[in-house]
Amino acid sequence: MNNNIYLIGFMGCGKTTIGHQVAIKMQSEFIDLDREIENREKASIPHLFKMQGEDYFREVESLVLLQTKERQGCVIATGGGTVSKEINREFLKRQKTIYLEWDFDTLYERIKNDSNRPNVKSYGQLEELYESRLSFYESAGTCCINCENKSRDEIVLEIISGLGGEL
Ligand code: S3P
Repeated sequence: MNNNIYLIGFMGCGKTTIGHQVAIKMQSEFIDLDREIENREKASIPHLFKMQGEDYFREVESLVLLQTKERQGCVIATGGGTVSKEINREFLKRQKTIYLEWDFDTLYERIKNDSNRPNVKSYGQLEELYESRLSFYESAGTCCINCENKSRDEIVLEIISGLGGEL
């Protein structure tokens, strides 16, 4: 076991900000999967989607995710769509994977104007995407935190106490 922890959830759920805070508190390394993909491909995510397509992005995302098993004791923020591939879900199920759960409307308010997220579309399309992924988050997560009405610090604390204070 590599002792990494993975954060999953829809766009805007706080995987990056919360993951970063958890890593600081645990004195561990933080890895953001989207940034790893951008570094590897030397291109931004909107550019990758536009020039190579989402399928290509998903292939790289999977590769980068599976490679994290070589790293030790890291906190890893995945992308909102990482769970859409079965191979990724199978991998995540065998790790410590925390699902950050929020209501759709809360997430929508956070992401609706974000032009750096190519999958942010209309309210209806996003809600459909959210609904279609719910069972994936539930099955890939080994633990779920309902984040609604909690502050970022409370969520960070809940994660750390759930880990027994150690990675
Ligand atoms: C995506 C979510 C993004 C990023 C890409 C696609 C998605 O990550 O991987 O824009 O399809 O949900 P965040 O969840 O960190 O925004």
